[in-house]
Amino acid sequence: MNDNAHATSRVDMCSLITLAKHHHDNGNLSVVEDNNEIPFKIRRVYYLYDIPGGEERGGHSHRECYTLLVAVSGSFTVVLDDGIERREVLLNRSNVGLLVVPGVWRVLNNFSSGSVCLSVASHLYSEDDYVRDYDQFLQLTKCKRNEKV
Ligand code: TYD
Repeated sequence: MNDNAHATSRVDMCSLITLAKHHHDNGNLSVVEDNNEIPFKIRRVYYLYDIPGGEERGGHSHRECYTLLVAVSGSFTVVLDDGIERREVLLNRSNVGLLVVPGVWRVLNNFSSGSVCLSVASHLYSEDDYVRDYDQFLQLTKCKRNEKV
């Protein structure tokens, strides 16, 4: 299993990507497609919806999978953690995605009522790609903290 991403990932590798937006009087349309703006080949799309108030999602990192998260409706916060630094990003625009690189722990919270999180991923679903245990995540990112000392 490749754990290299955990050794090298940084929160500042996670960036906001503005998606194409076609504005019309009868509504807007945005596109996520394989082009130079998305730095991975799109293999999977899934979405979170009907999220009860106060609930959290995520709470894991990936070994290889890149993800683009979009608040296609409503808003939520993404807490990013690379084992050294934490950053909170508010997603509240239907045409802005947050690129989350492998090796970065993410928690999604503060979902507004009726919000929908679209997730575009570089890999097919594989439980083996997940790190769900925070202590294991700290272990995998330990070398970065050692470098800082
Ligand atoms: P998970 O990725 O833990 O959700 P989140 O990060 O949003 O909290 O997925 C929850 C469950 O859904 C997981 O146990 C298996 C299933 N699942 C799939 O079957 N396929 C998928 O592509 C995803 C993302 C999840």
